[in-house]
Amino acid sequence: MKITVVGTGYVGLVTGTCLAENGNDVICVDIDQKKVERMKNGEIPIYEPQLDVLFDRNIDAGRLSFTTSLHEGLDHGEIIFLALPTPEDEDGSADLKYVLGVAEDIGKYIKDYKVIVDKSTVPVGTAEKVEQTISKFCSSEFDVVSNPEFLREGYAVEDFLKPERIVIGTSSKKAEDLMHRLYKPFVRSGNPIIFMDEKSAELTKYASNSFLATKITFMNEIANYCQIVGADVDKVRIGMGTDSRIGKRFLFPGIGYGGSCFPKDVKALHKSGQDVNHQFKILDAVVQVNEAQKTILFPEMKNHFMGDLKGKKIGLWGLSFKPETDDIREAPSLYMIDKLTEAGAEVTAFDPEAMPNVKSQIGDQISYCEGMYEASKDVDALLICTEWSIFRTPDFKKLKAEMKSPVIFDGRNLYEIEEMTEAGFRYSSIGRKHV
Ligand code: UDX
Repeated sequence: MKITVVGTGYVGLVTGTCLAENGNDVICVDIDQKKVERMKNGEIPIYEPQLDVLFDRNIDAGRLSFTTSLHEGLDHGEIIFLALPTPEDEDGSADLKYVLGVAEDIGKYIKDYKVIVDKSTVPVGTAEKVEQTISKFCSSEFDVVSNPEFLREGYAVEDFLKPERIVIGTSSKKAEDLMHRLYKPFVRSGNPIIFMDEKSAELTKYASNSFLATKITFMNEIANYCQIVGADVDKVRIGMGTDSRIGKRFLFPGIGYGGSCFPKDVKALHKSGQDVNHQFKILDAVVQVNEAQKTILFPEMKNHFMGDLKGKKIGLWGLSFKPETDDIREAPSLYMIDKLTEAGAEVTAFDPEAMPNVKSQIGDQISYCEGMYEASKDVDALLICTEWSIFRTPDFKKLKAEMKSPVIFDGRNLYEIEEMTEAGFRYSSIGRKHV
């Protein structure tokens, strides 16, 4: 099928590349000339496991190309995906200026039937607004479909190619048939394509992300309580998770959720409730608890140093908001860096992918190291903010020998408490009993 994807950010690029991988003829449109030039030269602008291989393969096969011309894109695709940014407004709502701006251009330009697909995470009622905007300028036939993405960073290719479910919101049979034809090859295993109205599809995305953020936050509160009463959150987590109504996933406590989706989507759903006098009290609490969770280890660190972190050298492992990504949006590490440097500590950090992004955001506020052991050398304490695999089984002997004092604050519960005690570390983690 002929597909156009408008917007080559994270979602657009994964969508375009994976649709090409399945044999579709895809053109990706972006207004950023430099970025389009780079992509035309085979350079991929984001880090996402597996994506580079698919990107190269589909460009070489002639199924994936790039342009800055929206008109060229609109001529090409029978299905036009909108994968445009919906940044958080000052009041927490999603700003639709990019989506509606392109909708207007589409209305002015299209001459034959097109299916316009909202792939961006957009508030309930956006498909209707897009439809009205296009209609204002357009006499040709078209349908607007809501098709939210559920891609996890780090697993986006896998999630796209083998989705657990695909949600399509449309009230048009013609659009439904086209979308079914497009997505059928992705659900050969029997996973469902769920059709519904546009508003329900839009809300499904917000409700899913907000629920997951709530699940994590609930566990973080349980973890904080465990710490006070001397229970072990890992035991509680397993005890709870084996109830299939609860499920094992997304119960891992830590120093808070971050990223581009959960923080933004929770706030946007909360705000869109307020707009219609509906108060999402749970989401209010989720935002507050998560904010506090990001720096939950700071008071403990401060206590350890008798209230004075001035001149202390702190090693930091992990800067990205989660492993397998270079994304640092709302990353807990940044909140901890702020607190630590404000208190006069010196931070030496290592992350496998995210250091360039952190450097361009906060510059030389911290030092960046070539490897994990360089970051922990001669430090008064080590702080772990992201659970990259390489941090899971360090050489504890080497680590202890090279640190100034063997003190670890672990925001991701990577190690067993007994093994740390045996190895001679003073070890703190989240919601577990420490001896
Ligand atoms: C999320 C959704 O999972 C995805 O479906 C949606 O489309 C986009 O948002 P993503 O932000 O890439 O994906 O990351 P995810 O793996 O969901 O993790 C989000 C945050 O929750 C991370 O900060 C992670 O560290 C945290 N988390 C996750 C926990 O603290 N505990 C857990 O048990 C799981």
